[in-house]
Amino acid sequence: MNKTVVVLGTQWGDEGKGKIVDLLTEEAIAVVRYQGGHNAGHTLIIDGEKTVLHLVPSGILRDDVTCYIGNGVVIEPAALIKEIEQLSAAGVDVRSRLVISHAAPVIMPYHILLDQLREAKRGKKAIGTTGRGIGPAYEDKVARRGIRMGDLADAETLRHKLQEVLAYHNHVIEHYHAHEPLDLEQVYQQLLQQAEQLLPMCDDVTGCLHTHLQKSEKILLEGAQGSLLDIDHGTYPFVTSSNTTAGSAASGSGLGVTQMDYVLGITKAYTTRVGSGPFPTELFDDDGALLAERGVEFGATTGRPRRCGWLDLVALKRSIQVNGVTGLCITKLDVLDAFAEIKVCVDYGDAQFPVTASQWETVKPSYQSFKGWQSSTRGLTDANGLPAEAKTFIEFVENYTKVPVHIISTGPDRQENIVIQHPMG
Ligand code: GDP
Ligand code: IMO
Ligand code: MG
Repeated sequence: MNKTVVVLGTQWGDEGKGKIVDLLTEEAIAVVRYQGGHNAGHTLIIDGEKTVLHLVPSGILRDDVTCYIGNGVVIEPAALIKEIEQLSAAGVDVRSRLVISHAAPVIMPYHILLDQLREAKRGKKAIGTTGRGIGPAYEDKVARRGIRMGDLADAETLRHKLQEVLAYHNHVIEHYHAHEPLDLEQVYQQLLQQAEQLLPMCDDVTGCLHTHLQKSEKILLEGAQGSLLDIDHGTYPFVTSSNTTAGSAASGSGLGVTQMDYVLGITKAYTTRVGSGPFPTELFDDDGALLAERGVEFGATTGRPRRCGWLDLVALKRSIQVNGVTGLCITKLDVLDAFAEIKVCVDYGDAQFPVTASQWETVKPSYQSFKGWQSSTRGLTDANGLPAEAKTFIEFVENYTKVPVHIISTGPDRQENIVIQHPMG
């Protein structure tokens, strides 16, 4: 029996991680977010009612589950407080069930400002970030000048730290970006107010997780973004600023790598991407428009339209390797119901997997074509009910990747899944 299951995206994000984490949490005692920040947008639909989560783990809608924000997550206090309040207003008790790591870095107002100023300066070469300050916050962490959640407990020391780091960033804000500097007192006072709300939830998350393991309790580790947005393995520089791949589940939570029992790789039955950067199988025709329309492909965080294209098995295979994926979950199969012909990319026309930006730009995808099933798979819960063409499509993915498909998602609602093998079973 698998006690720790990592759920992560194998593409450029928005694979449906939130929905699947919520589904699997039925079997777990705890859910942990281990990287990323409120750049994530995870959508849960339960009996038609929609909830979008950004920082709060996708286990929060199950009453008996404890939710952890690990040390690897960057936290914007205002965004987290707003999310907690919205959930509380909807009747979800968050404060008694959310535990935040003392070691998690804080996203400060200067990180958000710098993210936006840099993107504006890049003009046409912009990365298309979510503008949430994610990159600058991770930079400060690695530069060892970051402010962590635990630092909010000591007001005096916090003031000194903030004074030093703000002087540094204000120099760039004023002299490089020609923007008005931020006011120390204002930033400090706001932080103290936020600290009052969040500190009661802060604890030693790593310690808590190991206590769960000692009691043989099951833990889900919830990834954000996708493997192709990984800072090392993604389409650099058009990536996010954290490692989105499975190793982060350990480093961003404090569990050991040998304590991960199963890695569930989520892939849409096609591909989407928000923001700029390479996307070999992107479609600019009616098929792309139909994917966007049927999949309702708009970002859950920024509302931006998502770019759409065919499933890319070359990239998926690479994601499976870098994550050590145990089983796959194919989501949004129902979106393909309307297509007479479905394609999947099986080759990049080059011996090597692209690594550099210029290698990515020259990728020439070749495709395998499949006959569409042109009937509804929406809401199916039994694999026997799948049309023969859909079975062929799924078997092809398994044979190509050499990894079994353990879950097929057939609609956005919690109930709409074919669970072939439960990762915690
Ligand atoms: P995440 O960031 O990986 O959690 O994914 P998002 O929530 O950003 O995007 C996935 C979108 O697809 C959400 O709007 C979900 O409600 C929706 N969704 C998830 N699974 C399915 C599915 O199997 N079929 C359909 N039609 N929609 C789905
Ligand atoms: P979830 O968890 C899709 C993308 C941004 C941009 C790049 C860098 O919902 O799958 P950042 O703000 O992180 O510095 O932006 O990464 N991006 C996402 N794309 N889903 C996400 O999260 C994303 N989080 C960041 O669009 O291209
Ligand atoms: Mg999302």
